[in-house]
Amino acid sequence: MGSHSNLDEAIEISSGVYWVGAGTKTFLSRNSFLRVYEGNKATGTLLIDPGPTSDFVSLSHKVSSILPGGLASINLAFINHQDPDVVGVLPKLYAMNRKLNIIATEDTWRLVSLNGLASVRFRSIDQVQEQRLVLPTGHKLQFIPTPYCHFRGASMIYDLESRILFTGDFLGGVEASGLIATQENWAGIKAFHQLYMPSNEAIKLAVKKIRALEPAPLTLAPQHGGLIKGDLIELVLERISELPVGLDIVTSLNDRLPALIAGLNDVLVAVKETMGEYKVDRILRDFKPEGEYPSLITLGRDGLVKDIKGDPFEAINALLNTFMDSATEKQQKLLRPMFNLLML
Ligand SMILES: [Fe+2]
Ligand SMILES: [Fe+2]
Repeated sequence: MGSHSNLDEAIEISSGVYWVGAGTKTFLSRNSFLRVYEGNKATGTLLIDPGPTSDFVSLSHKVSSILPGGLASINLAFINHQDPDVVGVLPKLYAMNRKLNIIATEDTWRLVSLNGLASVRFRSIDQVQEQRLVLPTGHKLQFIPTPYCHFRGASMIYDLESRILFTGDFLGGVEASGLIATQENWAGIKAFHQLYMPSNEAIKLAVKKIRALEPAPLTLAPQHGGLIKGDLIELVLERISELPVGLDIVTSLNDRLPALIAGLNDVLVAVKETMGEYKVDRILRDFKPEGEYPSLITLGRDGLVKDIKGDPFEAINALLNTFMDSATEKQQKLLRPMFNLLML
């Protein structure tokens, strides 16, 4: 395991728990997991966050390497929430196996069932939330809702044997990386949450629920980015608890953002005069701060900035640094005072 894992193949991350995800080399990886339960009297399989339609070939290949019957033999799938990167492949799974059961909250299922899945056997977790469930194999599971992280009906699933907590989008990151997260992944986790999580209050509630788990999880397995283990768990939980996201950023900057954007556009005119329009337009077009995450800065047709998502000061700072990196020494001298003024 670790940075040398071959991500083209399934990886056993704990006894009976396999990573069967995809796209780990791209900016937004998808982590899917297959749990194989072996008991004295029964066996069972559970597919956690199956993934988008576009990952079908990869998922099928990885699952077939673990289960001789492949995807068609999976009778149980769990979904954290209803986004296409989690549920897209479900209609295909159902077409392969009419005995498929899907576990989710009712708020999630109401939306997912519209995807041609109305006749699927649905197992609601609303009644068993926060309680432990014992499977026929004797294995224990717990479902922990994380309201508004990022969907109202989002729910984590905790595997009590492996002590792996599957957190869905919560604690996910956009950074391209290996299977296991390192400190470097914080920037990507932060960018993802600033964009997709609605409020810090929702995050705090989810963190509180994670901290209350007994026994404490050994691994936090989000649907995107690296798996969080060891000392990194406490570090990430601490940092994420203090992170302003979504509406926190929008409301706190409501009055100041237009002025900031206007200031940035003034600076851009000067940068174009100094460095040449062609070069500046190219930098703006390719600009991807925070682990190559696109479109933190929205450009209008006129080449001017229309909107900034995430933390605007950080986004602008990253952009100005990109200009500085590709400017000559002489150009840097001209631009630096202007940049300093904007960031005051
Ligand atoms: Fe999502
Ligand atoms: Fe997601």
